[in-house]
Amino acid sequence: MNIILKVRETLEKGNIVALTGAGISEESGIPTFRGKGGIWEKFSPEIYANIPGLIGAFLFMPSRIRDFILEFYLTIHNAHPNKAHYILAKMEQRGILNCIITQNVDNLHQQAGSENVIELHGNMLKFRCTKCEKKYTLREKRLEEFIYRLKSASRREIIRLFLPKCECGGRYRPDVVLFGEFLPQDELNRAYMELEKTNSLLLIGTSGVVYPAASLPYFAKERGMTIIEINPYHTALSHLADYTILKKATEALPEIFEHFNEQSQKKFRN
Ligand code: OAD
Repeated sequence: MNIILKVRETLEKGNIVALTGAGISEESGIPTFRGKGGIWEKFSPEIYANIPGLIGAFLFMPSRIRDFILEFYLTIHNAHPNKAHYILAKMEQRGILNCIITQNVDNLHQQAGSENVIELHGNMLKFRCTKCEKKYTLREKRLEEFIYRLKSASRREIIRLFLPKCECGGRYRPDVVLFGEFLPQDELNRAYMELEKTNSLLLIGTSGVVYPAASLPYFAKERGMTIIEINPYHTALSHLADYTILKKATEALPEIFEHFNEQSQKKFRN
């Protein structure tokens, strides 16, 4: 049987969790991290993805760190959800997808309408006070102002914008996980809890080389779940997959979804 038909059969049973990575947002204009043209090719993760590296960059390369922050936020600001994000949101609405566990920090799943989204690596639009844990979100207008002011900011201003003071005396920072930091424990626990109740795991657009996120498919496999991988290339997790669809997310998902017959759509619509 054709692989798309087999995958459709599995999806029709519902009770699915999706684990997504940078690849799902690639066609929204957000580059992936690894590989040709990836973010880490332009900005070394040894400097830009950990606290000591970032402090050094703030002190000694302020214009470079400004370029890094600007590029990240401009890219996210200009990006819109693509077909793959929308299909996952629709699958949740139809009751066949329980939740999305994402490593992405771009907020595109939520923008597409997904509600149960577990963000393992945080969210670039959210800021958290390192002292009192208070949070705020950079909404549209504030994000535009942030980008505008950043463009001509001096080192001092970059710090004021990127790490603003909280009323408690502490400083806010983007609520994202850097290398060497722990994942938010609540999110990780929720991810395992969701996986415990699941039949199938959809792996979309992740290279599967960053842990602990990459350990989730191993957990799923041990529990006998069906694993479906969607990625134009084989990955470090392909050996776990029951089905690997070597296509872009925006090609594979519409193809699978188109094959949902009317009956199964009715069954899952509530
Ligand atoms: P990677 O950049 O490591 O991998 C992206 C994956 O997406 C690759 O396997 C690509 O083949 C695949 N891909 C590319 N285009 C695609 C498309 N259109 N459709 C489907 N797949 C596509 O990104 P992640 O696996 O998400 O963490 O990386 C995991 C973590 O590494 C990130 O969350 C980030 C990074 O360092 C932190 O910063 C903590």
